[in-house]
Amino acid sequence: MSLVTLRVNGQSHEVDIEPGTPLLYVLRNDLNLSGPRFGCGLAQCGACTVIVDGVAIRSCVTPAASVSGEITTLEGLSRDGQLDPVQQAWIAEQVPQCGYCQNGQIMTARALLDSNPNPTDAEIREGMQGVLCRCMTYYRIQKAIKRASRETAAASFRDGDTPASEGAKA
Ligand code: FES
Ligand code: FES
Repeated sequence: MSLVTLRVNGQSHEVDIEPGTPLLYVLRNDLNLSGPRFGCGLAQCGACTVIVDGVAIRSCVTPAASVSGEITTLEGLSRDGQLDPVQQAWIAEQVPQCGYCQNGQIMTARALLDSNPNPTDAEIREGMQGVLCRCMTYYRIQKAIKRASRETAAASFRDGDTPASEGAKA
């Protein structure tokens, strides 16, 4: 066992873990963060996705001890009691069906929009590929990402910032 310090959702945590323990296990079992899900355990489905320093990663195959950056889980997306625009769009578009994959979908979408605030449909498909949904919610996911993009741009405009775009691209 060895002590590892992780920064998760703005807080530091020290955990005593076996070498090689996947980040997913530490988040769920030691830190009681049940947003990230165990799906395949093989980096094939995306259910376990978390964001580390702005990049979506698969926590099931990432040793916790190898992570030195700021980890954001689904639990850390909301700010000041307000859901993240991606979460709000997910509700507006009624995206989930069984819900099992949706952590991965939302976290991957958040990272996508952080790197590309106004993605095209093709860019959304490319950015979201490999995050699997057995319930085939892909069309609603695409609509929700477009909605989150539009509404974030509109909010920036209302706040007096220069909008990230002049509107959602086709
Ligand atoms: S559980 Fe990590 S990619 Fe499937
Ligand atoms: S909503 Fe059921 S697997 Fe995606």
